[in-house]
Amino acid sequence: MSFIQIVSFTTDDPTRITKLSQRWREETAGRTTLLRERVYVDRDDPRRFVAVNEFASSDDARVNSELPETSALAAELAGFVSDLTYTDLDEVVLAAPEQPVQDTETEAGALVEAIFGHTVSTIELATVWLGLKLGLYDAVATGGTSTDVAGRAGIIERYAREWLEQQTIAGLVSVDDPGAAAEERRYYLSEAQRLVLADADSPFYAGAMALLAGGCGSVLPRVLEAWRNGTGVAFGEYGDDVRLGQGLFNKGDFVGSLAQDWVPAMPEVAALVARPGARALDLGCGVGWSSISLARAFPGLAVLGVDSDEASILDARRNAAEAGLADRVTFEVARADEARPTASIDVAFFLESLHDMAHPVEALTVVRQALRDGGRVVVMDERAEEEFAPNGSPVERLFAAGSVLHCLPVGLSEPGSAGTGALFRPATMRAYAGAAGYADVVLPDIEHDVMRFYLLRP
Ligand SMILES: C[S@@+](CC[C@H](N)C(=O)[O-])C[C@H]1O[C@@H](n2cnc3c(N)ncnc32)[C@H](O)[C@@H]1O
Repeated sequence: MSFIQIVSFTTDDPTRITKLSQRWREETAGRTTLLRERVYVDRDDPRRFVAVNEFASSDDARVNSELPETSALAAELAGFVSDLTYTDLDEVVLAAPEQPVQDTETEAGALVEAIFGHTVSTIELATVWLGLKLGLYDAVATGGTSTDVAGRAGIIERYAREWLEQQTIAGLVSVDDPGAAAEERRYYLSEAQRLVLADADSPFYAGAMALLAGGCGSVLPRVLEAWRNGTGVAFGEYGDDVRLGQGLFNKGDFVGSLAQDWVPAMPEVAALVARPGARALDLGCGVGWSSISLARAFPGLAVLGVDSDEASILDARRNAAEAGLADRVTFEVARADEARPTASIDVAFFLESLHDMAHPVEALTVVRQALRDGGRVVVMDERAEEEFAPNGSPVERLFAAGSVLHCLPVGLSEPGSAGTGALFRPATMRAYAGAAGYADVVLPDIEHDVMRFYLLRP
């Protein structure tokens, strides 16, 4: 059960507080159990500050307050701020509100409606997949009739007309004059539709999801067989769409946020990757965008991307060469739990890959042994809820269904697998890190709708 400590005080010198807490963070790095710290200022009194310190439990808070640096900080604070108060708050689990009783018929009707909605979404997403595979969004982006679109995409007009009508009905393509004769109607993409469906570099691009879903759909018989005989389906067996879809799914974040926002949110990691001659590992690197983005941002850093899927590594090498970074970004087809040279790595990253690995504890152990003194491990993985509960949020449902169709079969594709799956909860991370010999797991303050971040200290 989490525990919050609220420290409230008044001061004319907030800069001194910032310096004190920065020094405290540096001195206690690797030993503090503080999960998150936020400081707020009173709107009505700019001299009054409230610090909210979050711990996993009251025991963790006690460990933290018993650090000599914490006592020194408290004493120093008491010397120059006024109105200093501490409030300790235990988390309370409130009883769930009573659910209104529904009769079976109403409940069944609502379920049928939900399944109807899922059916519409599923088959519409399949038409998005078709459009992406055939280049139809690119073909309609500049506007034209069904004959124009068919000609640009190299398909017959009758199919193009059907697809354009269906996409317009679904709100994914626009039309000038719906009342015009079918063959004369002019279709186009609005700017929003173009960003979401035809511009893979846009932050709004959602084609990756259709590729991932279409790729999973195309191997469903193989997944069914694995479920029947208790085996798995290796990542590579899911084919090109899943590999490319996965690459595109995180590319925007890797190119735009990894080095710019996420690494700076972990100052000890930022210092390590900025060191001339620094070395990073990117375990389960996929098609390489994370390795490439790190190398681009930190000119003294050499990155080794490792993935057990050969096709991903071939794409990653091509992407690094095209980015002009092949001298500092290298890729290797290997399992993350294979032995590595010891005491040489500054930072190892597991970016949405740990839950797919058959042997996550072994991978974390091998990587810990490869870290140089002061080295760190960064894990980004699914932001599943802290605990299992019925009727999950859309994000929880995405991970749950993704796990059924893809992540768990991938995880189970090697003998002796941990069988993690995509419902990767913080408790699982802590258990794996503990079993792999890490002293400390903290959750850096990084906002993300679907991913959670962990910083592991050996
Ligand atoms: C969900 S994808 C993430 C890829 C990439 N990090 C990204 O975010 O786009 C998981 C990756 O882990 C790789 N993988 C799975 N098990 C692995 C293992 N034991 N060792 C190395 N890579 C592995 C898969 O091949 C796949 O490329």
